[in-house]
Amino acid sequence: MDNYREDTYGERIAGVYDDWYREYDDAAVAVLHELAQGGRALELGIGTGRVALPLQRSGIAVEGIDSSEAMIARLRSKPGGDKIPVGMGDLADVAVEGQYTLIFVLVNTFFALLTQEEQVRCFRNVAQHLHPRGSFVVEAFVPDLSRFTRRQCVTVADMSEDEVQFDASRHDPVSQQITAQQIVLTEQGIRLYPVKLRYVWPSELDLMARLAGLQLKHRWGDWRKAPFSADSRTHVSVYEHGQQSHG
Ligand SMILES: C[S@@+](CC[C@H](N)C(=O)[O-])C[C@H]1O[C@@H](n2cnc3c(N)ncnc32)[C@H](O)[C@@H]1O
Repeated sequence: MDNYREDTYGERIAGVYDDWYREYDDAAVAVLHELAQGGRALELGIGTGRVALPLQRSGIAVEGIDSSEAMIARLRSKPGGDKIPVGMGDLADVAVEGQYTLIFVLVNTFFALLTQEEQVRCFRNVAQHLHPRGSFVVEAFVPDLSRFTRRQCVTVADMSEDEVQFDASRHDPVSQQITAQQIVLTEQGIRLYPVKLRYVWPSELDLMARLAGLQLKHRWGDWRKAPFSADSRTHVSVYEHGQQSHG
């Protein structure tokens, strides 16, 4: 998948994104609201605003960054979507002005940065824009490499009378990259939704945070603050400035 760019995922998926991922945990909005402490919030990879819009409605001033014009067009078409300032660009750059009490990146979007270097750069840029008492929240999956056989995996993600959806993935354990296609088959034809990511374990994320002068404050297994354990499939990790960097 050599022509995959930072906006490929969003440009392809924008038309179906809200139908596929309609559900979102209200508890996420409550936790983000609490962590924002009434200050400014910035979402990296804001997309169609599934979480940013309810957070904005809860009284928090939300801004966003995204690389996909098509995803942002969906955000703009929703009530309140035109009131959220969005910078178009790479989330690794965090190209914004000033500081935020909350910076957050949801549903594995951090893994859209495809190299360790890009991911470390993102942490460093986040640290520069994080208020001294601010929180950086990363929601992501815990890698499960048992899914792959000979570094490949095909699963049936959804099926109805009129369509079937497969996920086909390839895994490169050296670069920690997964290259995948979500494939939708209907009688009208085939649609392909490509995605590439670089997964990291929570421990690598914590090291990246330390390189940026941040430290782990909380790690939950979900948005209801369930304890993170060996059985957790996802995590919500909250970082704050380390001792030395408090202003
Ligand atoms: C899985 S969606 C998540 C959208 C939203 N945060 C949500 O929870 O529904 C990932 C979003 O990140 C954006 N994105 C992916 N790679 C990016 C990059 N390198 N820089 C900026 N945005 C990126 C995509 O365009 C898409 O809108």
